[in-house]
Amino acid sequence: MSVSASPLSLSSVVTTLRAAGCVFAEDEAALLLATAGTPAELAAMVERRVAGLPLEHVLGWAEFCGLRVHVGPGVFVPRRRTEFLVQQAVGLTPIPSVVVDLCCGSGALGAALAAALEGVELHATDVEPAAVRYARRNVGGLGKVYEGDLFAPLPDSLRGRVDVLLANVPYVPTGDVELLPAEARIHEPRVALDGGGDGLDVMRRVAAEAPRWLAPGGSLLVETSERQAARAEEAVGSGGLIPRVMTSDELYATVVIGTRPVD
Ligand SMILES: C[S@@+](CC[C@H](N)C(=O)[O-])C[C@H]1O[C@@H](n2cnc3c(N)ncnc32)[C@H](O)[C@@H]1O
Repeated sequence: MSVSASPLSLSSVVTTLRAAGCVFAEDEAALLLATAGTPAELAAMVERRVAGLPLEHVLGWAEFCGLRVHVGPGVFVPRRRTEFLVQQAVGLTPIPSVVVDLCCGSGALGAALAAALEGVELHATDVEPAAVRYARRNVGGLGKVYEGDLFAPLPDSLRGRVDVLLANVPYVPTGDVELLPAEARIHEPRVALDGGGDGLDVMRRVAAEAPRWLAPGGSLLVETSERQAARAEEAVGSGGLIPRVMTSDELYATVVIGTRPVD
């Protein structure tokens, strides 16, 4: 149910959000009004947004690849640019196929891929219990979600059978974390952002182990920044995968794809 005749009108919410520094105050106000079930809920949501919580944490969902993905405190909000990684994955996923979403966060990537294609056997993992809880909710009956470090919680039976390995790992260099917008820096877990000295520590670990899990011809897809692309390509290639870099000007996104050679 949305709030149409509440004590907080659209214009008063816009004014409050604008005063708090929200750049897209009109759009945000419309979303808050459409999502709140009661005037009291709307007032509480506006208060949380004014206090600096990410809009998606306040709403309880983020839009990703046309899906409403549940998110909340302690969970990374899937970014629109990451839709490019999913678009690339759709073109690389055979039917039927085994797909792993590593460092899955809310589970958005795997859920979007499994929703787009029939015949996907989906497995997702994350180290953060809060992420795993949200991922289980978002993935639902589309797959299984495990808690643990990278590949460790996956069933051994997947070794050498994974057709597509989605891995939007943390890739912000440690020294740049403090430069992130407050919404990310304060409200998203550090483990979701900090990729180590040059930002590529987790990616290197994934790339080193990926060839043992990928099927011949299977592909790893990782997101990176334009600035890191050359080093990310090298990291993906160093484990024995054949790397290539794909970019989207529209989504301002860079993805490295590493393919296991067919023996
Ligand atoms: C940048 S977020 C991406 C989340 C999700 N893939 C997305 O794009 O919305 C990175 C995720 O990696 C998880 N993570 C970090 N280190 C990990 C590790 N060693 N093993 C498993 N998950 C890890 C974090 O908890 C976080 O959910």
